[in-house]
Formats: sequence, structure tokens, C-alpha cells
Amino acid sequence: MEWTEDLSVGNEVIDEQHKELFRKINDLVLAINHSVCKYKIGDVIRFLDEYIVFHFSEEEKMMQKSSYPGYKAHKAQHEDFKRNFEELKGELVKLDGGKKPGSYDLSVQTNQVVVDWILEHIAKVDKKLGEFLSPSS
Ligand SMILES: [Fe+2]
Ligand SMILES: [Fe+2]
Repeated sequence: MEWTEDLSVGNEVIDEQHKELFRKINDLVLAINHSVCKYKIGDVIRFLDEYIVFHFSEEEKMMQKSSYPGYKAHKAQHEDFKRNFEELKGELVKLDGGKKPGSYDLSVQTNQVVVDWILEHIAKVDKKLGEFLSPSS
């Protein structure tokens, strides 16, 4: 999954954070392709868990500061995703309590859940916010 200009929401802070998410997902894809993902997936999930919470709260702060009218609906999507992500975390805990290697299945599942959601969310929801924050002419 590649970050391209058409994914830009027109706000540098948000774009940089999205790029960081893409980098982490791409690390996971590489690990899957090189059959080492079961050793990496625990770290990836722990990283995403923290980074996603950080990123969502940054966007939510921007929305509140600017009295964004779509705040509630946007935040609800973030909450939905956090719930989905809790399931992945639960799978990881079931596997190993975070100590032993994860699994190929969990790696592929994580990749799918995050990629599908993020592309859709950026294209439809974050872009609207970006446009509100800095209208393009
Ligand atoms: Fe968002
Ligand atoms: Fe975002």
C-alpha cells in the first residue's frame, strides 16, 4: 500500500501521521512476504494500538478547536475502528499473551482490517475534515 498525493487531505500534520501509519503497514506486508510476520505482528499491533489512539485524538482536537460540524460522526468512526482493533488485540493475547510469536493468519487479518478501513476513512472522512480546515479555493 503506497501513500500517494491523491490521499492527501490538504493538512500537513494529518498527512504526516497517515504516512507513518502506511509505513508501519508496509513493514507488516514485507514481513508477511518474507514469512517472518509471526515474529513481527505483536510489535506491529502494539505500535498501531498506540499510534492510532494518538492520531485519532490529534484529529479530534483539531475538530474541536475549529468547531467542526462533522465532529460527532467522524469521532464515531474512530470509535468503531478502535473496537475492531480491540478484537485483533484480543487475538494476539489469545495466541501468546504477547510473549510468544504471533501467527500468519493474524498478520494477514490485521493487514486487511487496517488497510481497508484506513483507505476508506481517509478518502471519505478525513478528506472532508482537511477541506474544512484549509479550503482549497
Ligand atoms: Fe479520522
Ligand atoms: Fe486520519
